[in-house]
Amino acid sequence: MDLIKLNNVSYSIDRKAILRNINLQINRNDFIGVIGPNGGGKTTLIKILLGIIKPSEGKVLSENGLNVKYVPQFSNFEKTFPIKVIDVVLSGLERGNLKPFRRYSKEEKEYAMSLLEKLEIGDLKDRQIGGLSGGQMQKVLILRGIISKPDLILLDEPTASIDTKSKNTIYSYLKELNKDMAIFLVTHDMAVISSYVKTVGCLNIDFHYHNDKQLDQESLEKTFGCPIDLIAHGYPHRVLPKHWGDIE
Ligand SMILES: Nc1ncnc2c1ncn2[C@@H]1O[C@H](COP(=O)(O)OP(=O)(O)OP(=O)(O)O)[C@@H](O)[C@H]1O
Ligand SMILES: [Mg+2]
Repeated sequence: MDLIKLNNVSYSIDRKAILRNINLQINRNDFIGVIGPNGGGKTTLIKILLGIIKPSEGKVLSENGLNVKYVPQFSNFEKTFPIKVIDVVLSGLERGNLKPFRRYSKEEKEYAMSLLEKLEIGDLKDRQIGGLSGGQMQKVLILRGIISKPDLILLDEPTASIDTKSKNTIYSYLKELNKDMAIFLVTHDMAVISSYVKTVGCLNIDFHYHNDKQLDQESLEKTFGCPIDLIAHGYPHRVLPKHWGDIE
């Protein structure tokens, strides 16, 4: 069965449509990439999937007891809070963020350590988070998101501040994790879309999702309202409409 299903979901604020009539099914081995312009509703859609906000119309159906985790777009994690890197990762084992930190077992600590090493930040284990760079902090938050082995992880532009080498490390690891967990990724990075995700959707109030990786020019233009790089089957092509000149 699907992990989560959205049936005709709409969301509006003060009668302004933010999301309109969205249908989406997320299955266990999905790796969905979502692109769309600023303000297109991507973060709002993630909040609907998390259950933080309720749709104005339509239904969100999900499996009982589904473990869904979230890596936010901009870190709103209080970086002045005196806590070590490894403890932030371990805190991802809790449900909800408000509980005081408990003691963790040796196995849990070893597992957290192995995750830090996967993303090549093992040496940061005992550092206070206040001194981390943006990219290092982002890696820590990704690990906090996945340590509980969720059924579904929602990532909202997780690699915006990350260099190319680290980006490849992170996405290769996510690809490995995708054998056991569904991944829903918002990104503006077309290289990531072409190399790592399995299916791609375009969101700008309306959601164009074809359940494959083919992005047709019509969907892209409807979504962005302007010509953009088109990526189909992993190969980038620059496609410009005729009125932009004679360039093919
Ligand atoms: N609480 C709110 N009150 C009023 N408007 C809101 C609220 N939350 C979101 N919006 C509006 O909803 C629209 C979609 O916002 P959202 O954050 O989902 O966009 P996004 O696709 O994530 O954009 P970005 O690429 O910039 O992150 C925007 O026009 C935003 O201003
Ligand atoms: Mg957003």
